Amino acid sequence: MGKIWMIASGSGGSGKSSIAVGLAQTAAGSGRKTLLLDTAGPFRTCDLFLGIQSVVTVDLTDVLVDHVQINAALYPVPGFPGLDYACTSLMSCVPLDDLSSLILALQGKYDLILLDLPTGSNPFSVSLMQREDRIILVTRPDPFSLRPCESLFQQYRALPAEVFPVVNFEDHALIRKKVQYDANTMSLLLDCPVLGPIPRTSDFFTLKANGEGAASLSWKEQRIFRRIYGELA
Ligand SMILES: Nc1ncnc2c1ncn2[C@@H]1O[C@H](COP(=O)(O)OP(=O)(O)OP(=O)(O)O)[C@@H](O)[C@H]1O
Ligand SMILES: [Mg+2]
Repeated sequence: MGKIWMIASGSGGSGKSSIAVGLAQTAAGSGRKTLLLDTAGPFRTCDLFLGIQSVVTVDLTDVLVDHVQINAALYPVPGFPGLDYACTSLMSCVPLDDLSSLILALQGKYDLILLDLPTGSNPFSVSLMQREDRIILVTRPDPFSLRPCESLFQQYRALPAEVFPVVNFEDHALIRKKVQYDANTMSLLLDCPVLGPIPRTSDFFTLKANGEGAASLSWKEQRIFRRIYGELA
């Protein structure tokens, strides 16, 4: 059975989708058959990061409601062997139980299923997560992102899966100005080790020169994602 890694955050725009795509590329690159499942419905962005937005037409709701073949909703990502993309909406008319069952069935096909979740808490996680699964809680290192992160952290701690906060958008100039916390302070405030920190960079995910295809990681980003992936795997 494949593992499930859920990427969540308490505040919007903290980098969930970017991190989901980075970890999915890293996992597939290390030989794990990986599915990136974007659960934001019409607000999804992972297909844009992967450069496959023009081909994605079928989602898991079509599979569950209209009995479309599951393979039609699984999109191989060009340039990343072993990586598939799928999307769904947690707000659609599909009961979450049916969607959970479908995801559990997909665990037979993949080594790793990465769920990019909408911001905030969601009821989806409870039935799905097992002890060996992971919850990756993305936060910016500032008070406005930390508070909702702490609140989600408390909720997710009750689940069997281990919770890993990941700090994104670290900026040393902002730490010096005391607008941001450094990683040690984040760890103290959350009372657990944090992963990352991922720096705020101007070229996060460099697009290929022709502007087509998947956004790919620079070598610096690859190193950061390999480190985070190694801690989680
Ligand atoms: N470390 C970083 N440095 C610079 N830009 C970043 C970084 N992380 C994410 N971004 C950029 O910030 C924006 C928001 O990131 P992303 O879409 O991954 O966040 P999100 O948490 O998925 O947002 P949403 O809540 O809307 O789903 C994107 O333009 C992304 O490229
Ligand atoms: Mg997102």
